[in-house]
Amino acid sequence: DSPEPRPAPGGVRDAAGRAAIPEAHLRVDRWWLAPAATALGLLAFVVYSTWRAFANADYYDAPYVSPFYSPCLADNCEPMKGGPNWEIFGGWWGLSPALIILIFPLGFRLTCYYYRKAYYRGFWASPPACAVAEPHKKYTGETRFPLILQNLHRYFFYAALLVAVILSYDTLLAFRNADYEWGHMGLGTLVFLANIALIWAYTLSCHSCRHIIGGRLRHFSKHPVRYRMWGWVGKLNERHMLLAWASLISVGLADFYVYLLATGAFDDPRFF
Ligand code: FES
Repeated sequence: DSPEPRPAPGGVRDAAGRAAIPEAHLRVDRWWLAPAATALGLLAFVVYSTWRAFANADYYDAPYVSPFYSPCLADNCEPMKGGPNWEIFGGWWGLSPALIILIFPLGFRLTCYYYRKAYYRGFWASPPACAVAEPHKKYTGETRFPLILQNLHRYFFYAALLVAVILSYDTLLAFRNADYEWGHMGLGTLVFLANIALIWAYTLSCHSCRHIIGGRLRHFSKHPVRYRMWGWVGKLNERHMLLAWASLISVGLADFYVYLLATGAFDDPRFF
């Protein structure tokens, strides 16, 4: 049984059990700013990534491959020399090869605890903000289909780990030049390094990761290594929102950088 709700001032409640006050809410700050900015930011990324994922072009310029298109799992992608090319989808796949890959990072971000909060507020106003009642009549949380599928987050986390390993390998390949010789660096190498650092930081700051490392233990004292790792991951976890945005922007920028090179907008400045 849930406890009796605390009486509203004056003791009057509406049908939903909320204080029966004439105002929709009592917030006087610009509470709508955060959800509106969040919705705009997410929308911008969705539009950009949809365009790039379906483009099926301009995603490779030696030695860089766009993170949207790696690994290559279909026959129809431009092969990257030495890159992760596993054509397990064969020749029947006629759409953009990015669509096979992006399902994993997309699922990871879509089911992420932070992004859930962000898009529930930004797009569904559920709730719009703290202490602002939502417009919907019914609330079932994440207990029914399709939102119950949010529980798949842990499995998407495992897939995201794999994606991060592959993107790390791509970053290693960025230490080659256009002739695939090792020991070189360009501006793109730095772009890739910044991106992979943020991808790893975001992935490891995941709440599921924190639970996998430090959860379900009876005594931390008996698991000193896991306890220490849990502390590290916890520090990242405190910045999960920041890392979610930073890595979203960095992955978009890394892709855009490759796009600019591939379309000949400019040449990659080489350091050595
Ligand atoms: Fe955000 Fe897992 S909670 S990535």
